[in-house]
Amino acid sequence: MEELTKKIISLTKRKGFVFPSSLIYGGFSSTYDFGPRGAALKNNLKKAWWNEMTKRQKDVVGLDSAIIMNPEIWQASGHLSKGFADKLSECKSCHQRFKDLEEDGKSTEECPNCGGELMEPRDFNLMMKTFVGPVEDNATTAYLRAETCQGIFVNFKNVMDSMRVDLPFGIAQIGKSFRNEITPGNFIFRMREFEQMEMQWFCKKEDADDFFEFWLNQRLNWYERMGIDMSKLRKNEIGEDERAHYAQRQVDIEYKFPFGWGEIEGIHNRGDWDLSNHSKHSDADFEVDGEYPWVIETSIGVERSFLAFLTDSYHEMEEGREDDSGKKETVLRIGRKLAPTKVAVFPLLKNKESLVEKAEEVFDKIRKDFASIYDETGSIGKRYRRQDEVGTPLCVTVDFDSLEDDSVTIRERDSMKQIRVNIEDLNKVISQFMKGEEFISLGKEV
Ligand code: GAP
Repeated sequence: MEELTKKIISLTKRKGFVFPSSLIYGGFSSTYDFGPRGAALKNNLKKAWWNEMTKRQKDVVGLDSAIIMNPEIWQASGHLSKGFADKLSECKSCHQRFKDLEEDGKSTEECPNCGGELMEPRDFNLMMKTFVGPVEDNATTAYLRAETCQGIFVNFKNVMDSMRVDLPFGIAQIGKSFRNEITPGNFIFRMREFEQMEMQWFCKKEDADDFFEFWLNQRLNWYERMGIDMSKLRKNEIGEDERAHYAQRQVDIEYKFPFGWGEIEGIHNRGDWDLSNHSKHSDADFEVDGEYPWVIETSIGVERSFLAFLTDSYHEMEEGREDDSGKKETVLRIGRKLAPTKVAVFPLLKNKESLVEKAEEVFDKIRKDFASIYDETGSIGKRYRRQDEVGTPLCVTVDFDSLEDDSVTIRERDSMKQIRVNIEDLNKVISQFMKGEEFISLGKEV
């Protein structure tokens, strides 16, 4: 594994972003839990996407559909028969499974991993099976959803009728998806349980090409506004042979991870594949004015974009940021909207009661409006570095002058500049900063 990935994994575990799941029982293959900072970052990411899609964009409404749905949905969508079913060869010794060995010019008899004997290729399906009903013998076999959007398609008419929306319009949803991935890995990049943020845009067939370009640009524009390094983002037009079974056109948005370019979002023209198939397999009539609407889909993975934003913000060895022992520090330059904690509050000294009392007062005032943390241990320099490492954009210090003039010093993570601000203006100043105002314009530089 690359050095940088190792460092990022270590930081995320040490600082409560991501923990390997079920560790006390020896872990569980490719599943992860998100610690307090990771949960906050994930929520911020989801909130940013939700606001973008259902507030900033016009004519997009939200939905929250079930994870386990009628299994016929997956028959109609093609997931039980087409792109999600693969023929795999399993090794009799190490039980690893391989696909496309012959196409890749490899032996179909000898396991590439351990040299063991391979079984004949067998059918595997990426859909996760479960049973609905307490007695397994009589229970219905059902599936955990493999993509959130099928819940959107089957609710297409419900939304249209209840919300009085007309073409073109979109439905957005955030939620868990499950896939029995053959080769999970690269930390949280490919997992078996993950979250998707999907938007299906329903439009007339003749407008689909234009809307494809529109949504592709809107999505790229969002990453730019969220502060990602655009030189590490690229569009990848996927050829016919490699496209998902439902896609007439597919452009992947890829990020340059330390392990190589990886897809974080897919923009798909799904044509009328889903609505027409659900109409055929059910009683639904999904036609509008005698035709099936076409669908442009934007589908982003929460954990993959989490990893992209985290990787992008990871900086080390910055000039002037050595700690007391001369070791250069790590700074997580995560965007203001995504940062798990927005403000840290410090009393200059922890053994001066008046400073501690005042700092606690300031902390109480701030934490009602912003995710904040209070820290009184170690030197101020050490406390700054602790916050830099987890991406906190602002640190507020209560010093002896604060006791006289009711003002505090705010230090900004990226520029390391400091301003002096009246305590009564503090929440307003932080709010302006969070909205994107230039830090130095918000107070008197010190
Ligand atoms: N509804 C379309 C769809 O599901 P996809 O390209 O299969 O398209 C969309 O998935 C996004 O979901 C991907 O770009 C990725 O961010 C995320 N994703 C897919 N499989 C994943 C996995 N095994 N682990 C983590 N994220 C995954």
